[in-house]
Amino acid sequence: MAVLVTGAAGFIGFHVAAALLARGETVVGLDCFTPYYDVRLKRARAAALAGRPGFRMVEADFAGPGALAPLAGLGIERIVHLGAQPGVRYSLENPEAYAHANLAGHLALLEFARRAPALSHMVYASSSSVYGANQRLPFAVEDRVDHPVSLYAATKRADELMSEAYAHLFRIPLTGLRFFTVYGPWGRPDMAVWSFTEALYEGRPIRLFAGGRLRRDFTYVDDIVAGVLAILDRPPADDGAEKPGGSLAPHALYNIGNSRPERVTDLLALLEAETGRRAIVEEAPMQPGDVEATYADVGPLERDAGFRPATPLADGIARWVAWYRDVWRPRVSGKGTG
Ligand SMILES: NC(=O)c1ccc[n+]([C@@H]2O[C@H](COP(=O)([O-])OP(=O)(O)OC[C@H]3O[C@@H](n4cnc5c(N)ncnc54)[C@H](O)[C@@H]3O)[C@@H](O)[C@H]2O)c1
Repeated sequence: MAVLVTGAAGFIGFHVAAALLARGETVVGLDCFTPYYDVRLKRARAAALAGRPGFRMVEADFAGPGALAPLAGLGIERIVHLGAQPGVRYSLENPEAYAHANLAGHLALLEFARRAPALSHMVYASSSSVYGANQRLPFAVEDRVDHPVSLYAATKRADELMSEAYAHLFRIPLTGLRFFTVYGPWGRPDMAVWSFTEALYEGRPIRLFAGGRLRRDFTYVDDIVAGVLAILDRPPADDGAEKPGGSLAPHALYNIGNSRPERVTDLLALLEAETGRRAIVEEAPMQPGDVEATYADVGPLERDAGFRPATPLADGIARWVAWYRDVWRPRVSGKGTG
C-alpha cells in the first residue's frame, strides 16, 4: 500500500515525502515542476528523493485530463495533497493558474479519491489565508471564513467546501490543514524568509511592507511535517459527531501554526544576526491581498493529534540560515560560506 504525495518536488511535499520514507512507507510522488519559482530547486528536491527505497516520482499535471489514470494500479491507500499554485500576491497577476491547480486540480484529486478502492484518508493543504481580514485572534477553525482578501485564499476555501461536499456524498475521510507561513531548509524563494536572506547575502535592498509591523505565525517545516503525519494517521470517523471545523461528515479542519505571531521586523533582526549582515531597508506600503496578522489556535490539533508546533523562531531561523549558507548558496552561486 502506498501514500500519494502531490507536490512532492515542492517545499512541504518534499519534506513530507522524506519523512514518510524515513518511517518505512511506500511513497508515490507527483509533481509537474511548474515554473512559479526556480525549477532547479524543485529538480534538486526531486533528486534528493530519487533512488530512496520505496519512492517513485510521477511527472504529471494532476489537473490535466486523465492525468491520474496511470496511478490506478499503484495501490494508493492514503493521499497527502500538497501540490498547488501557492502565493497571495501572484494570484493578482495570474488568477488562471490558481483556478487550474487549486480548483480543477483539487477536484481531480477528490475524484481520484472517490474511485480509489483502497483509499482510507486524504489530507490536503489549506491555508491560514482563508481567515482573510478576520479580526478575532487567534484564528480558530470554528470562525466564519467567508471574506477572503485574495483569489489564492478563495481557492483554498473552495477546496475546503468541495471537500465537505465529497465527504458528505461519498463518505471519503478528508482532512484539511490550514498551514501558517512555513519556513525552513529547502524553502520557497518567493517567501520573505528566503528573499530576505538572499538579499542580505547579496547586499540588495529589502522591501519591508507596512513598516514591518505585519505579524506572521512563522512555523518551522519540521513542525508542519510532524503535524501532517500525526493527522494522516488519524482519519476522521464517519460517526455523525461534529468534527473540528463543524462538519458532521468525515471531514475535519485543523490549523497548523506556531501559535506565536512575530513581527516581520523581528524576523529580519534574527536573519541579520544569523547571517552577520546589515539589511538595507526600503519601506513599502501594505500590499493588496495582505493581512495584518496571522495567529493559529492549535487547540483542536493538540487535543486530537497530541501535537503542537514548538520550534522557537530563533532556533528555526538558525537552522534555515545554516542550510541556505552551507548547502544552497554554494551550490547555485559557486560562492563560499562567507
Ligand atoms: N509554504 C507555506 O507557507 C504555505 C502556507 C499555507 C499553505 N500552503 C499550502 O501548502 C501546499 C504546499 O506548499 P509549498 O510551500 O510546498 O509550495 P510549493 O510551490 O513549493 O509546492 C507545490 C508543488 O506543487 C506542484 N504543482 C503545482 N501545480 C501542479 C499540478 N497542476 N500538477 C502537479 N504538480 C503541481 C509545484 O510544481 C510545486 O512543486 C500548497 O497547497 C500551499 O498552498 C503553504
